[in-house]
Amino acid sequence: MFLRIIKNSIMRCYYDIKYPYMEYNFTGIDGRDYIMFSVPPIMLANEYQKIFNTKPKTFFDCGAATGAVVDLAIHYGLDAYGIDIVKYPDQHQSWFYMRERQHKWGWSTASLKKLFDNGRIKIKSILDCEPITADIAYCNGTLTYFDEQTLPIVLSKFQKVGMLCAIHNTTEDINAAKQMGETLGTCNEPRTIRTNDWWIETFFKNNFDAHYNAQLRTFLAIPRQK
Ligand SMILES: C[S@@+](CC[C@H](N)C(=O)[O-])C[C@H]1O[C@@H](n2cnc3c(N)ncnc32)[C@H](O)[C@@H]1O
Repeated sequence: MFLRIIKNSIMRCYYDIKYPYMEYNFTGIDGRDYIMFSVPPIMLANEYQKIFNTKPKTFFDCGAATGAVVDLAIHYGLDAYGIDIVKYPDQHQSWFYMRERQHKWGWSTASLKKLFDNGRIKIKSILDCEPITADIAYCNGTLTYFDEQTLPIVLSKFQKVGMLCAIHNTTEDINAAKQMGETLGTCNEPRTIRTNDWWIETFFKNNFDAHYNAQLRTFLAIPRQK
């Protein structure tokens, strides 16, 4: 905890500020330790309920990484599943650190391995998936890994979801981080960094009504036809 306090006071990074609700430590595919910033599924579920006036039941994490978000979503009572194109190492810590709505708490990693063993999280690309039918689909960074030609194919996979929640670096993020002397990094090399407006227009062109939710720091895209 002490180390953490030092880190927070002297190393405030851009993601610390942009994603204040949730972060966790994880071991990357190179075996090194990293911090992932994300949005708690319960906040996405609350937003879904506001929009659709009913509670969501199902949750799909596109790019589930270690499975932390799927695990949390299950913990909140959602029928959650996910995919990732790579298999991360089994998380070696027995506890990892989470921060959510300013509450800081530890979380056991023991349940994560089970999600891969029992098939809740599959190792495959979204491009190889049948259309996703979950109430909430979540893409944390994943959309930026595709080029402009492939994005429409990826977005077509989400035409049957209730609500697509996407967070990722945009031109505005890259510039804001630069002002703080930081070059933003992600798990994989991102390919498509564009402005917020470009993303809203791209969702629109691909049959979604979308807006940026400033509180969640999330694009919310709702398919126009189902
Ligand atoms: C930033 S991580 C998101 C982790 C987790 N969802 C969270 O919010 O904590 C993005 C993930 O997208 C995955 N990804 C990239 N391309 C993908 C693809 N074609 N299909 C599925 N996952 C992909 C990456 O491997 C990476 O683990």
